[in-house]
Amino acid sequence: MEMSSANVEAVVKQVLESMLDKQGILAEGAATKSVSIPKTAHVAMLTGLEHYDIKEYPIPEVGDGDILVKVEGCGICGTDAHEFKRDPFGLIPVVLGHEGTGEIVKMGKNVKKDSAGKDLKIGDKVVTCMIFGDDPEITMFDMNKQNVGASDVYGLLPDDDIHLNGWFSDYILIREGSTCFNVSDLDLKSRILIEPCAVLVHAVERAKTTGILRFNSRVVVQGCGPIGLICIAVLRTMGIENIVAVDGEKKRLDFAKKMGAETSVNFKDYKGIEALAEGVKEAFGGHLADFAFQCTGSPAAHSNIYKFIRNGGGLCELGFFINGGDATINPHFDLCSKEITLVGSWVYTLRDYATTFDFLKRAKGIGLPMDELITHEFTLDRINEAHQTNLKMEGLKIAIVNK
Ligand SMILES: NC(=O)c1ccc[n+]([C@@H]2O[C@H](COP(=O)([O-])OP(=O)(O)OC[C@H]3O[C@@H](n4cnc5c(N)ncnc54)[C@H](O)[C@@H]3O)[C@@H](O)[C@H]2O)c1
Ligand SMILES: [Zn+2]
Repeated sequence: MEMSSANVEAVVKQVLESMLDKQGILAEGAATKSVSIPKTAHVAMLTGLEHYDIKEYPIPEVGDGDILVKVEGCGICGTDAHEFKRDPFGLIPVVLGHEGTGEIVKMGKNVKKDSAGKDLKIGDKVVTCMIFGDDPEITMFDMNKQNVGASDVYGLLPDDDIHLNGWFSDYILIREGSTCFNVSDLDLKSRILIEPCAVLVHAVERAKTTGILRFNSRVVVQGCGPIGLICIAVLRTMGIENIVAVDGEKKRLDFAKKMGAETSVNFKDYKGIEALAEGVKEAFGGHLADFAFQCTGSPAAHSNIYKFIRNGGGLCELGFFINGGDATINPHFDLCSKEITLVGSWVYTLRDYATTFDFLKRAKGIGLPMDELITHEFTLDRINEAHQTNLKMEGLKIAIVNK
């Protein structure tokens, strides 16, 4: 091609433009890296009963032991629903959300490892667990410490000058001394499910202490909300297959079967507890259950469940995260003469958290539909609607997901 002066001019222009373009991209790239953290963050603050306001606060200084996380998503828990409706913990105004996960965008110079000893760097995906008054290593490494007692969690902290205290937000500040896990090898939905799954990993650990739960045990799971459904999933990953699910909602019972329950029993199809117990027995081919998990917050359901269990069987009661009132049982018939071994289960230990990461991989590996537990996703600005949807029990796990 002959290079006329017009041609040269055009070529020079093209080269210059492409250089400028590249510089633009580079500059933008560099800028994204160094200034991708905005000056302010948004939080969904519960300011009154059944009402969140989106509030904007300056992103505070990140201290030497702190981690700033860009929030990707957070599940709505039954506890959030209680706070939203009645504020039983007296926390209003409060930034809720404890089933959250996100990406590290900044960390203090002293932050090197997570609570399990894994390296941490910018870009890693993390979740938080409890905030301890004492040394977190106690629950991570001491197998004898089973219950976390009175520790705090992000998403249930009183508001303070920092405000970025819960996962219903676009940024959260994880402060020095908190527990935090690197879960970069799990996808977003799995990470959102970690907290409720840890509840069931712990409950099954508690159940195992009875010595009654075995591969071929007949197991009843009563209550097929997210907690009961995840209970079925944990049992399946342990190789337990003879599971009967009990609930009053057909859609939930169908999901229980998808999750691996062999049969389901709709308590609304039976008149009275004797008939219902017969129904459960029939579902096991004429046998009562060896073990039962109580996963509803209904005192009547607690009273019922003893009738589903054989002499010498076991029961794990985990349905009452908060006080749901008293339940009546007959100590002679239900417990004493049947020699039932009963364990209670409440939250989890740090070790259960780490076990849960493996459980989630295993559950997906054997084809359990864990992702389908998240039935609804809302952006942060629609959090009031998300909570109302949750209250209507239209789905299973409702999640806030930041786009
Ligand atoms: N132990 C813990 O640490 C812990 C942690 C989280 C939640 N929980 C508790 O677990 C319970 C379940 O949580 P969820 O999120 O799955 O709740 P959920 O309300 O979504 O599910 C409860 C299910 O129980 C069913 N049910 C109600 N009464 C029943 C009865 N008489 N017989 C059979 N089924 C009945 C309902 O139809 C519903 O499907 C809650 O009460 C919560 O407080 C405990
Ligand atoms: Zn929760």
